[in-house]
Amino acid sequence: METFTKTYNAEDYETRYKKGYGHAYPESHIIRIHRQILEWELNLSPGKIFDFGCGTGANLGYFLNQGYQPYGCDTSATAIEQCKKYMPSHANNFYNTEVSPNLVQLMGEESLTVFMSNQVLYFLSDEDIKKVVEQAYKMLKPGGVFIASMMSYACWYIRQVSGVVGDFKELKFTSPREKGITSMINFKHKDELPSLFSPFKKLHLGSYANHIREEEGPTEHWLFVGIKA
Ligand SMILES: C[S@@+](CC[C@H](N)C(=O)[O-])C[C@H]1O[C@@H](n2cnc3c(N)ncnc32)[C@H](O)[C@@H]1O
Repeated sequence: METFTKTYNAEDYETRYKKGYGHAYPESHIIRIHRQILEWELNLSPGKIFDFGCGTGANLGYFLNQGYQPYGCDTSATAIEQCKKYMPSHANNFYNTEVSPNLVQLMGEESLTVFMSNQVLYFLSDEDIKKVVEQAYKMLKPGGVFIASMMSYACWYIRQVSGVVGDFKELKFTSPREKGITSMINFKHKDELPSLFSPFKKLHLGSYANHIREEEGPTEHWLFVGIKA
């Protein structure tokens, strides 16, 4: 069962990408973090940004346009191929990795200005999240910024829970749009995040959500921004 939950989400996403999953635009909270925190609050000079679970590269493409050097990894080979095509002059910066990869080996220590993981870490167990956080801390320069989202218990996905497996809730979707999909989600309460993302010092712990279809519900996610002090 442990092996099943460890690889389930990665394999599920590869299947989805092969069917055309993915989007070309950064979500608005990514742009707001960049403008309100990285630029306005921290006056950060662009450097290397690493995106853990970068998908087809929409968020990295945005940061490339803002002067950053994009790096990223994803368990989906299909998504990484699309990333390379989207940013051909940085094609060697995108890695198809395993569920719990050695990122420090890829990037080296104190090389990054920003580490981000948007809508990915809740597909990992607590143990694997901790490994990612520890490596992010090593890879960031002092003063570097860590950005991560986690799924809140207020997200409508919680209504689809059919069981519990370790750190994960098993979801079997019955809603019309997602019917038949199974996901394993590691939900978190807001007050669990500072210790989950320690040793990063919290700068902001906010949230974002949309509610587009009435029969689904709000998509509430926590948004943690921390700094390597
Ligand atoms: C909801 S998508 C988010 C993609 C991208 N971060 C974005 O914001 O558009 C989740 C992504 O996490 C990737 N993923 C799932 N498990 C992963 C893991 N253990 N390591 C790296 N990527 C993973 C999936 O392949 C998928 O690209």
